[in-house]
Amino acid sequence: MKTHSAVLIPGDGIGPEITAAVRRVLDAAGAPVEWVECKAGVAALEHGSDVLPESTVEAIEHHGVALKGPCTTPVGEGFTSVNVQLRQRLNLYAAVRPVRSLAGAKTRFDDVDLIIVRENTEGLYSGVENRVTDDVVMSMKVATKSASLRIAHWAFRFATRRQRRKITVFHKANIMKVTDGLFLQCARRIHQHEYPNIEYEENIIDAGCMKLVQDPGRFDVLLLENLYGDVISDLCAGLVGGLGVVPGANFGDDRAVFEAVHGSAPDIAGTGVANPLAMLMSAVMMLNHLADTREDEGCRQVAERIKAAYDLALDEDCKTRDLGGDLGTEAFADAVIERLADSH
Ligand code: NAI
Ligand code: MG
Repeated sequence: MKTHSAVLIPGDGIGPEITAAVRRVLDAAGAPVEWVECKAGVAALEHGSDVLPESTVEAIEHHGVALKGPCTTPVGEGFTSVNVQLRQRLNLYAAVRPVRSLAGAKTRFDDVDLIIVRENTEGLYSGVENRVTDDVVMSMKVATKSASLRIAHWAFRFATRRQRRKITVFHKANIMKVTDGLFLQCARRIHQHEYPNIEYEENIIDAGCMKLVQDPGRFDVLLLENLYGDVISDLCAGLVGGLGVVPGANFGDDRAVFEAVHGSAPDIAGTGVANPLAMLMSAVMMLNHLADTREDEGCRQVAERIKAAYDLALDEDCKTRDLGGDLGTEAFADAVIERLADSH
């Protein structure tokens, strides 16, 4: 069996706890992964390094894939988000967050099956903020034709490969006519010229949010610029059981960083109650990515075994607190590990 090296970044807050639990599940499942542990975030600062050490960026460039825990970002002051820096440095331009109803996690809806594709490098996250006077500040929304075409192309190609039927763009081009206008023009162009067989629709984002919470089953793939993608990801997580169950990946042309949608959850960090499932699902996405890009069907089999095991655990009511259960992080990981053997 081949072995693949992958960078592992435990991150901050609940990061180290959920990373340890996920690592145990992958080991128990026989995932052919050799971890190269690197630091980032507050953990790196406390270690005397930069918040995003050059060695971490280089390791991801070298190994090509990483599984990353959440990193804390100070609010209203301090360093630029490590997550934003990492996506920009490595040109991880496409964030993908699959949001699905889980049989074991009861919510208002049981038919959610949508995929968020978020432009990950520009928009209001470009970090161009100015203090014009003491009382007047501004933030620049940057949209480029190249990045807008690139993400539209990525989304349509992804939708085609995954046999999805429809792409919906959420926008506010009625107000931000130039920036969101460009994003829309690029999406329309890729649709018309290259993928006319995929259904395409546009929703002004405020009305789109209402439709999402009333009837999420009507949506399939959502294509969003950076800020909208960030916000809508958490909104959609709320439709299927919360941030504990939504994984994600950040793709560049030849690198990928897998991480849950949630953050470092300082309110529960260190208490052993965090749900490791979103990170475990992100690890499953990583194994499937390794299977696709390194032609290793063994990775896909391990990914399927883990997925079957956590589905079974949830079905048998093994849940963490956020899903209404009483298991801690490690106990949930144990429940998944116990079910690995039964799930071929
Ligand atoms: P958060 O996602 O960390 O937490 C929001 C709420 O969801 C909290 O009540 C938390 O306890 C709960 N939650 C999140 N993940 C959970 C899990 N796995 N199991 C159970 N409950 C969970 O968002 P918040 O509080 O806004 O941000 C905290 C820090 O995380 C900030 O510094 C923020 O910048 C950072 N962050 C980092 C991200 C990343 O590294 N990719 C993404 C989002 C936020
Ligand atoms: Mg977010």
